[in-house]
Amino acid sequence: MSGESKIVQGDSITWSRGAGELGLSDSGPMNIAEICTDRNLRLGRGGRPALIHQGHAGDPRTYTFEDLKELSCGWAAFLAEAGIRPLDRVCLFLDRVPELYIGFLGILRLGAVVQPLFSAFGEEALFQRIDDSQASCVITQRRHLGKLRRIRERVPSLHTVVVIDHDPAGKPLRSGEVAFSMDDGRRKDFPVARTFGESPSVLHYTSGTTGKPKGALHVHGSVVAQYLTSKVVLDLREDDVYWCTADPGWVTGTSYGIIGPWSLGVTQFVLDAGFSSERWYAAMARHRVSVWYTAPTAIRMLMKDGAEATRGHDLSALRHMCSVGEPLNAEGVLWGRQAFGLDFHDTFWQTETGAMMITNRPGLPVKPGSMGRPFPAVTAAVVDPETGEELREPGQVGMIAIKPPWPSMMRTYWNNTATYYSKFLGGWYICGDRASVDEDGYFWFCGRDDDVINTGGHLVGPFEIESALLEHEAVAESAAIGKPDPVNMEVVKAFVALRPGWEPSDDVELSIMNFIRKKLSPLAMPQEIEFVDKLPKTRSGKIMRRLLKARETGEQIGDTSTLEDD
Ligand code: WT7
Repeated sequence: MSGESKIVQGDSITWSRGAGELGLSDSGPMNIAEICTDRNLRLGRGGRPALIHQGHAGDPRTYTFEDLKELSCGWAAFLAEAGIRPLDRVCLFLDRVPELYIGFLGILRLGAVVQPLFSAFGEEALFQRIDDSQASCVITQRRHLGKLRRIRERVPSLHTVVVIDHDPAGKPLRSGEVAFSMDDGRRKDFPVARTFGESPSVLHYTSGTTGKPKGALHVHGSVVAQYLTSKVVLDLREDDVYWCTADPGWVTGTSYGIIGPWSLGVTQFVLDAGFSSERWYAAMARHRVSVWYTAPTAIRMLMKDGAEATRGHDLSALRHMCSVGEPLNAEGVLWGRQAFGLDFHDTFWQTETGAMMITNRPGLPVKPGSMGRPFPAVTAAVVDPETGEELREPGQVGMIAIKPPWPSMMRTYWNNTATYYSKFLGGWYICGDRASVDEDGYFWFCGRDDDVINTGGHLVGPFEIESALLEHEAVAESAAIGKPDPVNMEVVKAFVALRPGWEPSDDVELSIMNFIRKKLSPLAMPQEIEFVDKLPKTRSGKIMRRLLKARETGEQIGDTSTLEDD
């Protein structure tokens, strides 16, 4: 097909071509919700399924693009009525229910900033993120309301909590809480806010080594990058049924679980049910999923059940598979060929980059174990961490760096411009990951350059865990590291020195684990706790997590000359 051969010609893939295809001009109005709804209606896609949603129980529900428009207009009208103004931060604290996906568009239509919060977050994780953004509204459901109520007094900015499944016969709502039923709130239309390419759209919090989680702020113009990469790398076409397995609490679930596919008018499938390989394959067969975007941890979980597990299912619709979030090892790619007869196409990017930066795109050979090559409109390199100088020798390991600007680049960290500026060196944006580039321009991931823990593709900040650990009555000091894990890549391991009067025991261990699970999230919960008398520290008092990690993995410990004592 001529369309396909164009895709292989990387030169013709430019951001301005993406903007042109979407009918956008640099200075004209631009709104992600308008593109995902009104534009699709104008193109005659109103009757096409936009969302096929399958929950824990019951039959799947299908929403057309027309439904998307009217239901998101309903959301925008309701929020405006509730006193939400353009640029207010509105949090979505929801499981993967239809309200999450459609509410997202309603918030953007109103010109407010959408702040997704992973529904498994505990009170402290929630508090940090709402307190930092000073959000005025949180949209949630009954089962998560308790966590919000417990922090409500500590976040005075939060004037409205919307409950999407309130039961009038059940417990009453409190002041500042309002019920909204999306199905009943449908509106034919609601004026799109006058937003432009540089107007704030999405605020996603991500973890660093030090300090609180940082809010990466994106803009409406990001859609150009999400559109073009969805088209070229996910290879989405009009008749596809696309499944992104990521939760919109994380950036993959918004950039490629909402904005990318819907900007192309493509049908997407959402499964709001726990993992089992049987359930996944059955869902893919039933809904004839043709394009699939998932993560290495999920692939390794599927691998455990063997390629045979696919056999009883008709996966003949599946034609393209991509992966993101962690290194996709060569075994994963080879297994994918066995199980599905297709290659998993690895993609590398970050919350901060907003869209894929380094990719394996259809038409280019996959080298198992490599993340692929820079997306054609992207300039990427590996650079010297000190000078920012590009390392041009094949095989040299350096920091992954991207040349700004690109449409979906974060515009700042909320309330934290100093850290934002610290991410640039020598004219490059520095991702904080190490890699090498081979003679064909393929990138090979080596590791992160900080102490952030990557568990199942989710970043967890050691500082966040350590701060929470300190609040447990038994803990005097602690350090959290990522311990290598065969399925999740890493799991959290905590080293804990107990306060006087406390003795290590299974009970203390369990109590600490549960404490973190409830306060932060199941992801942040240490899978292992090692009790120690004291922690290795530098002379300036910084905990040497790297030393603990090296001990754990049996690696070379490296320079310890700044260590406090021997
Ligand atoms: C970090 C970003 C953006 C999608 C989800 C994660 C790691 C991401 C890969 C990959 C090896 C990867 C990096 C990166 N990462 N993709 N293909 N191979 N590592 O977004 O939570 O902002 O995490 O995930 O360490 O910096 P995020």
